[in-house]
Amino acid sequence: MSTNRQIPMASPDISAEEISAVKNVLQTSRLSQGPQVESFELLVADYVGAKHAVAVSSGTAALHLAVIAAGVEDGDLVITTPFSFVASSNVLLYERAVPVFVDVDPFTFNIDPKQVLEAIKDLSSSSNMRNKWLPPKLRNQKLGKAKSILAVDVFGQPAEMDQLKTTARDYDLSLIEDSAEAIGSRYEGRPAGNLGDVGIFAFYPNKQITTGEGGVAVTDNDEWASLFRSLRNQGRDVFDGWLGHSRLGYNYRLNELSAAIGVSQMNRIEKILSKRNQVANLYSHYLAEINGVNPPQISKKTTKMSWFVYVVRLNSGIDRDGVVSKLLERGIPSRPYFPSIHLLPFYREKFGFESGDFPISEEISSQTIALPFYTSMNEQEIATVCEALDQILNY
Ligand SMILES: Cc1ncc(COP(=O)(O)O)c(C=O)c1O
Repeated sequence: MSTNRQIPMASPDISAEEISAVKNVLQTSRLSQGPQVESFELLVADYVGAKHAVAVSSGTAALHLAVIAAGVEDGDLVITTPFSFVASSNVLLYERAVPVFVDVDPFTFNIDPKQVLEAIKDLSSSSNMRNKWLPPKLRNQKLGKAKSILAVDVFGQPAEMDQLKTTARDYDLSLIEDSAEAIGSRYEGRPAGNLGDVGIFAFYPNKQITTGEGGVAVTDNDEWASLFRSLRNQGRDVFDGWLGHSRLGYNYRLNELSAAIGVSQMNRIEKILSKRNQVANLYSHYLAEINGVNPPQISKKTTKMSWFVYVVRLNSGIDRDGVVSKLLERGIPSRPYFPSIHLLPFYREKFGFESGDFPISEEISSQTIALPFYTSMNEQEIATVCEALDQILNY
C-alpha cells in the first residue's frame, strides 16, 4: 500500500479556528500575557478540575516553577524516574537538587511505587542504607533531605498516583506530577495532571494539543499559584509595579498568540483526543498480526488514555536501532524513545551513573520505538508503517 504524502513523525492539528484566533490577536496591541492567557488558564483549570492553572512559556518552565514551589533547594533529594524526557530531571539540576532515580514498572514504564517507598524509607534512616539509592558520586556526602516525589505520566499513561500520594503523605513530601504528555488521561476516573500537589502540562507541537511552545502548572494551592504568577513574570508580585521585583523571577510568560491557539485547541480537545484514540486503535489492530512487536500496555487504572505517542516494544534480541534505520530507508521516521536519563553523558559525568544501575528502564530504552503518530493520520498511512515493520521484522 502506498501513500501520497511523506509520513511525518508528528504533526499538530491546526484548523481555521486557530488561524483566525491568531489573526485576531495580531489586530490588537496586546501580544504578551493578556486576556487570551487568562482564557486559556480558565479552560485548562476547568478541564482538569483544578483551582488554579498558570500558563507559562514551556512545560519545562512549568516544571521548574513546581520544583521551586515545593521548596526544593541545593542538595535536596527528589525521587524520580530515569525513564522520561530529560527535562523532568533537568529541572532538579536547575535548583542544584539531587535526582534519586528508582526503577520503573515493566508494564506501564512508569515509576515503580514500591521502589519509591523503599527508597524513602532507606533515605530517612541514618544508616548506610541511604547510599544504595544515591547517585554514585554523591555517596557518603552531606546532602539535604528528601523533599519531593516527581512522577511522570509516561507517554500519556498516569503514574500510580494513589500509592505515591500515600507515601508522600506518610513521609511529609510533596508530590509533583509531570503530566506533560497526559492532558486528557484519567486515572481511576480522575484527570491526570491534578493528582498530586502540583501538576504540569506541555504544549510543544508534537503534544495532543499545542500552543507552539507553552506549558501550564495546575494546583489547588493558593500560595503556590500566586508564586507561579510572580516567578513567571520576573518576580513581580501583584502589588509590584512594572519595575518592582519582590523575588528572583524569570521571564516564563506565555504570549497571547500561543494562548489564542491554546484556547482554540482546548475548545476542540475532545474531538482531537478521540481521533488520536482511533489512530491508536488502528495501530493495535494492524500490529496484532505482526510477530516481534508489542503494542503499548494500558493499565486498568488508566480509565481514559490520552494518546501522546504510539510506542511499541520489540521482542528482546531484535536490533532496535537497525529497525529504526531500515524504517528510515523506507521513508518512515521513528524514534528510539526514551533513552534512560541516567545514561546521558552529562548525567554519567556529573553523578557517576553506569549501565546496569536501573536495568528495567535500560531494557525498555533498548527495545522501544515511537512510530509516526498524529491526529490526522489515516488508515492507509498506519497500514504503510505496519507493513514496513512486518517486512523488516519477519521477511
Ligand atoms: C515528560 C516530559 N516532561 C517535560 C517536558 C517538557 O516540556 P517542554 O518541551 O514544553 O518544555 C516534556 C516535553 O516533551 C515531557 O515529555
